Amino acid sequence: MELFSVKMRSSREEEHISGAETIVDRAELVEVVGSFVKRALNHTKGEPDFINVKIEKLKEKPLELVALPVYDLMTPVDEETLRKLFGLMGFPNERGIELYREILRGAAPGGKVMRGAMLVKLPFGERVEPDRERGVRVSTVGIVKEAEERLKKLAGDRYTENLRDALVLATKVLNHPAVLGELCVSDDPNYTIGYVTVKGLGYVRLRGIKEKGLRKGGRVFFLKENCDVEELINYLEKKPVIIKEVSSYSSVVDVRELLSSPMR
Ligand code: COA
Ligand code: AMP
Repeated sequence: MELFSVKMRSSREEEHISGAETIVDRAELVEVVGSFVKRALNHTKGEPDFINVKIEKLKEKPLELVALPVYDLMTPVDEETLRKLFGLMGFPNERGIELYREILRGAAPGGKVMRGAMLVKLPFGERVEPDRERGVRVSTVGIVKEAEERLKKLAGDRYTENLRDALVLATKVLNHPAVLGELCVSDDPNYTIGYVTVKGLGYVRLRGIKEKGLRKGGRVFFLKENCDVEELINYLEKKPVIIKEVSSYSSVVDVRELLSSPMR
């Protein structure tokens, strides 16, 4: 089967509005390109004056992964909850909170939003991404239709395209052996659901991670001390990964329930 990576990004007056990508076979190309253009034209952040769609044939077979189990925390998140999640990751709590606040202020120089993720390394959580404005952007990912349908069924009315895309991206990231977890706050002023992933646990959906209307957001990838950063960046940007299956979607009322999760 011939597989293609399809990537879309849109902007207005050089400012990024939205992006999307997937991996599909040749027969699905036309439909996917149409749906991405539609998506670019209907974004809550506004109307683009530039839409770029890129199609590339994959040169290697994608790595097939099962999506992380999703835990939907039904109570609004606070810093204490984040501290517990950083603790589960084995990352210093207070440094984690500093990074979260940095995201809310804009983690690029001058308080701007980064174009990709921060990389922070144990033991102290120093930033090691090569460029603090750009960060590192995960790419070359996709999900098969059957898995997407299953996620829709499991999540029911809590399903969103943001959830699907973020779960795909986060599954690729956490699959790398040097990654302990991730924190994500969307920069979309209308989307206030963020997440934390934790190795050995899964994807924890966090409501109210920022105030509605805030145009800031960002991502942090938490790394082990011995991480080879160059090798990791190459994996995150270039290794094709496709989600073949979805595992589970459960509601959680208190983050303490996660401490005794069967995955741990
Ligand atoms: N924020 C700001 N600018 C962005 C951007 C973002 N999230 N993504 C792309 N751009 C702009 C930048 O100017 C970038 O130049 P840079 O590399 O110097 O930062 C330029 O577009 C080209 O980016 P590139 O990644 O080379 O474009 P692409 O067409 O190959 O892929 C995406 C674009 C958006 C599809 C890809 O980067 C991506 O983010 N994929 C994941 C998409 C996804 O599922 N996102 C949802 C996560 S919840
Ligand atoms: P979003 O969830 O799309 O609102 O993105 C939230 C933040 O994550 C953005 O502000 C960027 O800092 C960062 N980001 C966006 N796309 C990527 C990506 N593909 N990989 C890593 N980080 C990203």
